This record gives sequence, C-alpha cells and structure tokens, in this order.
Amino acid sequence: MNSNELHIAVVGATGAAGGTALELLLERNHPAKNITAMASEKSADRKIQYGDSELTIVHARAEAFEGIDVALFAAGGYVSRRLAHKAVEQGVFVIDKGSIFRMDPSIPLVVPEVNGDDIDWHPGIVSTPNCTSTPFVMVLDALRALSPIKAVTVATYQSVTGTGVAAQEELLEQTRTVLAGGEPVTDVYPHEIAFNVLPHVDDFLENGYTKEEQKMLNESRKILHDENLAVSATCVRVPVEISHSESVQIEFETSVGINDVKRVLGDYPGVLVVDEPSRNEYPTPLSAAGIDDVLVGRIRKDIAHENGIALWLSCDNLRKGAALNALQIMDEALRRNAFKPAAERMTT
Ligand SMILES: NC(=O)c1ccc[n+]([C@@H]2O[C@H](COP(=O)([O-])OP(=O)(O)OC[C@H]3O[C@@H](n4cnc5c(N)ncnc54)[C@H](OP(=O)(O)O)[C@@H]3O)[C@@H](O)[C@H]2O)c1
Repeated sequence: MNSNELHIAVVGATGAAGGTALELLLERNHPAKNITAMASEKSADRKIQYGDSELTIVHARAEAFEGIDVALFAAGGYVSRRLAHKAVEQGVFVIDKGSIFRMDPSIPLVVPEVNGDDIDWHPGIVSTPNCTSTPFVMVLDALRALSPIKAVTVATYQSVTGTGVAAQEELLEQTRTVLAGGEPVTDVYPHEIAFNVLPHVDDFLENGYTKEEQKMLNESRKILHDENLAVSATCVRVPVEISHSESVQIEFETSVGINDVKRVLGDYPGVLVVDEPSRNEYPTPLSAAGIDDVLVGRIRKDIAHENGIALWLSCDNLRKGAALNALQIMDEALRRNAFKPAAERMTT
C-alpha cells in the first residue's frame, strides 16, 4: 500500500491532539486518498476547515470505521476502550494517543527513533507515549550510547494544552479575568492556573507520586527495553499554552564528556541542540512550539552527582508529544509493510 491509497481517520479531530494531526497532514501535503474527521455525537455534521476544503465531522462509532485503513485515536481512554478493538476487527490499523494501552504487554509503545522495530509485533494497535515521556526517552536513548544510565531525576514544566482544549481556554479566560481585576473561575484544574504553577499533573498515587510521574518511569522502561532504569519525576503544570519543558539530571555508570553529550544529541534524529548560554540561546516553550524537533540545551556537568549531566529540553507537546509521533508511526508501519496485525502478516 502507498500513502496515496490511504483512508485515514482522525478520532478526536476537534481536540488539541487530533486537531494538530490534521494540521500536520495538511502541512505535509499528505497525499491520502481520503481523510475522515471523527468526534463525539455533539460535533457530528459540523464542518471544519482542511486547507481549501472542508471536512464534515463524523460521529465516532463502530460502523464509522468501515473502509478506513488507519485511525489515529485522540479522544481519550473511554473512546479508545470502546472503539479501538472494533476498528481493528474491521481491518483498521489503530494508533492510540491515550494512556489505556500503553502498558499492555501485547501492545507496542513506540517512539520511532527509539524503538521503531517494536511496530513489527503489533496486534492491530500501536500505542504512543505520554507527551512528557516522548522527548525524555529520545534524550536518554541518545545518551546511553555514551555510558549506561544509572538513574535520572526529572522535573517537568507542562503546558495547559497537555490537558486539552478546555484547559487552554481556562488559562486564557483566567488570565483575562485576573488582569481585569475579577475573580477567576477554576474548572479543569483544582487551583487557578493563571499566574500560578501546580505540582500536580494527573491523579495522586499511594506512593506519593502522581500517575503522570509514574508514567514517565513505566513508559521509559518499556520503550527503552530497560526494566532497571531508575527515574524519579516531579510533574508540574505551568501557565504556558504549548510545549512541555523538562529539567533532566542523568547519572551515568562512568564519566561522560560534555562535548560527547552535545555530539550524540546533535546527531540524534529529531533532536536539535540549542545551547549558547553566552548569547542567551537555550530552548524555551515558545521556541519549541510549532516545530517538530525536541530542543535541548543548558547542557552541563551536574556538580551534585559524580558522572552526572544536567540539561533542559522543550518539546511541542501537540506535535512530537502527540500527533507527530503518531503520524511517524503510521509512516514507519507503511514503510515496513506492517499495517496488518503481526499474526495476520505471518499467515499470508
Ligand atoms: N494534548 C496533548 O498534549 C496530548 C499528548 C499526548 C496524548 N494526548 C491524548 O490525546 C487524547 C485527546 O487529548 P486532547 O488533549 O486532544 O483532548 P481535547 O482537546 O479535550 O479533545 C478531545 C477530543 O475527543 C473527542 N471526544 C470526546 N468524547 C468523545 C466521544 N464520546 N466520542 C468521540 N469523540 C469524543 C472530542 O470531540 P468533541 O469536540 O465532539 O467533544 C475532541 O475531539 C487523550 O487521550 C490524551 O491523553 C494528548
């Protein structure tokens, strides 16, 4: 099958991640034969702009997947749980952006630059990581070529689009209200997000970490195929619209040189080193927003840890953190002729 024969569905097309998937398809002039935009029943029949044409939103339900080759699911866990397997039964290759399949051992969790080979054993569904895990594992994968990684401490600075369109609107509305001297209304987050930071992303677990922090450990281990990797994360929501940033401290088994760190990061696909502090050049969420690369800078020896390196990264959570990674999985599966589930490919 070729790209121009594909019928692609984007489930959650009116949302932050799904909307970005459509933007990327358009930006890349994807030659798909057909694109179907799906969302909830309340959006059915609404028209959305797609370049010079319009797409009519289709209500996402099992029957809607007939004739579709590949579906990017970005409509939350409830929708994926209800519809992903029904789509697979109809021959659809599903790429899921939510969290429900990520730790299922029968379903690969893929960042193509790191573990593209895992696409080969998919059972009809490939899962994509959390938007903080994706740039994180790319950096760890590049750096473990220098020396085995002993432990990683990471603090995130996550934008509101990571929570979706409603959270983005809440930040903007609260900001306007506070500047006008009013009392902001909180709905999506438990506290005001305008002019504030919340050390709270996703639900709290019994061990004191949040689910988001636990995901960074579990997903990194699965993607990097390293069950011994030690990761301690603190995930923080900040009043930024787009792009997540991360302060990362990595302890290696042996000493690594700063120039080698810069070299392997610079050579890694999808990573761009932006590290000229004397010229005030380092990654920021604004400089990462709207671009595909993971930006890495502030690379230095970690003076608190022997064999330690500290760095800072920023990455567009809607692009590489979500939609771009999903589209890259689609392209990689096509290149590998691996749209069908592994079991079916073996019998044909
Ligand atoms: N935002 C990110 O940075 C990011 C990164 C990685 C992964 N993800 C994942 O992507 C998924 C979507 O997140 P988001 O941030 O894009 O959320 P969002 O902006 O709130 O969008 C949610 C989308 O899901 C659709 N939807 C809701 N209920 C539905 C239903 N019952 N049937 C069909 N469609 C339904 C919505 O359609 P209506 O407009 O019709 O309600 C909307 O298109 C989540 O699983 C999230 O974990 C997001």
